[in-house]
Amino acid sequence: MFKKAIIAVAAGLLTATSVQADYFDPEDAVKYRQALYQVISAQASVMGGMVRGDLDFDGEEINQRARTIAQTAQLLPETYFPETRGVGNTRMRDRAWNNMEDFQSKGGNFRTALEDLIEASSQSDFDSSKARSAVGALVQSCRSCHDDYRAR
Ligand code: HEC
Repeated sequence: MFKKAIIAVAAGLLTATSVQADYFDPEDAVKYRQALYQVISAQASVMGGMVRGDLDFDGEEINQRARTIAQTAQLLPETYFPETRGVGNTRMRDRAWNNMEDFQSKGGNFRTALEDLIEASSQSDFDSSKARSAVGALVQSCRSCHDDYRAR
């Protein structure tokens, strides 16, 4: 079910049109997008804490938080419409809009890493070593997009 939901994100992003501008003010849409990323980041931070050993390891909790990221990420596509380009305090770099295909492929890598983490953390053999590699891959997918497409 989650796999399907995540794949729908890809489809949503690809078909994103300025129809959204009819019901979202572009500046509000940027704030909404940033708020979604804050939710995603808070979930990922807890996982990172567990992987580093700062927090007690709990595989089930990682699974739950990964699913929360998937649900939150489903809402991102409706915030990515052309009228949000350069608006408000957006940190999305202009070059992302000029390289939409590559931006989306980085989004695809994020989804794959997230699917892998959801799958791995649903198994009974999920331990801190498996978590380290799966959470590490997810965080790497965030970084890879930010390095190219998010302003500092
Ligand atoms: C496909 C590209 C992409 C991926 C993957 C991605 N991000 Fe981002 N992220 C962005 C962009 C673009 C922005 C800037 C949005 C804006 O300001 O309009 C952003 C902004 C953010 C912000 C700042 C939000 C704010 O308050 O301004 C945080 C935090 C963040 N991302 C965390 C994450 C985390 C954690 C992950 C991985 C679990 C992730 N992102 C994956 C593109 C991405």
